[in-house]
Amino acid sequence: MLKVGLIGCGFMGSMHANCYHNIEGATVVAVADIRPEKAEELAKLSGAKIYATGKELIENADVDVIDICLPTYLHAEHALLAMDKVKYVFVEKPVTLTLEEGKALIEKAKATGAQVQVGQVIRFWDEYVELAKIIKAGTYGKVINANFRRLSPLPTWGWEDWLFDVKKSGGAGQDLHVHDIDYVLSLFGEPEKFLSAKSTLGRENDYVATLMQYKDFVVSVEGTWALPGTYPFTATFRVVFEKATLENAGGKLMCYTDEGAQEIKIEKVELAGEGYKGGNVSDLGGYYNELVYFCDRAAKGEAIEQATVCDAVASLDFLLRELAFKA
Ligand SMILES: NC(=O)c1ccc[n+]([C@@H]2O[C@H](COP(=O)([O-])OP(=O)(O)OC[C@H]3O[C@@H](n4cnc5c(N)ncnc54)[C@H](O)[C@@H]3O)[C@@H](O)[C@H]2O)c1
Repeated sequence: MLKVGLIGCGFMGSMHANCYHNIEGATVVAVADIRPEKAEELAKLSGAKIYATGKELIENADVDVIDICLPTYLHAEHALLAMDKVKYVFVEKPVTLTLEEGKALIEKAKATGAQVQVGQVIRFWDEYVELAKIIKAGTYGKVINANFRRLSPLPTWGWEDWLFDVKKSGGAGQDLHVHDIDYVLSLFGEPEKFLSAKSTLGRENDYVATLMQYKDFVVSVEGTWALPGTYPFTATFRVVFEKATLENAGGKLMCYTDEGAQEIKIEKVELAGEGYKGGNVSDLGGYYNELVYFCDRAAKGEAIEQATVCDAVASLDFLLRELAFKA
């Protein structure tokens, strides 16, 4: 049994706890949150031991892997400590707030041999995994252009509103837009050129739009979390190939050609959520997939090869250049 230590029991910590509940061979045996009621909520679900802080858990808990779901500005210090304690560490995205912190994590991983996975979850999201396969196989010919969008109402759930403090979260640019940027980089690598523009509705980088110019095609990426509370969270893509156009929108992955439109059906894993917040947790999507991968690698003692700390730091590097871009 893989013993998991979960640090941070807020929005993402709860999501991860649900995932571990559904992963055979893994149990959350230790949880930490500076809000005791949040730690208790998750602890009672798996009988985990409670620690008052992340550092206390890292110092004292008997765990095989550590999963860090803390606000972004706390990732680096906890991940560095965790790598001294266990071989497998999971860090939520964005990997760190600054590039220097990210590089320190890479150095520490090299020095300790720790295997670090970062929560760049889109790499594990079914529809996006399918798109990556289709591009690689060349099923519909070459990519001509692509668009990725992530549109969200304000994330109001954060502990002490840390998400709205750009010095703690990096704002929508770093926190939300990083998902699509990381995915695009994983598909196509760095563009030859890019240009980026931002606007604000009160917080820095509330809206980011970037055009990435590759040798034969163009990718546009748009992200914002400054939409009204009633606006439905939306993550979509449209990829125009030589022989077809694929669109992921409205919960469906569609393939359009001149001959007709067809849904590309994706088989989803049925999840059990009994006793957990939300009851039916069949929509854990990529969160479940990424943690299945993490647990599997840890259980087998194998290297983390997807969404690695190096991948995440490379994405952060590009993202920070994007946010600093001036026309
Ligand atoms: N992958 C995704 O799609 C996704 C979605 C949301 C958030 N995230 C990321 O997950 C991370 C956490 O975000 P969240 O939305 O869960 O935030 P949150 O505010 O809901 O949860 C953070 C928790 O950390 C606790 N905490 C603060 N300091 C602590 C300490 N020293 N020791 C122990 N606990 C401490 C807080 O009490 C809070 O419960 C962030 O990096 C965020 O960017 C990822």
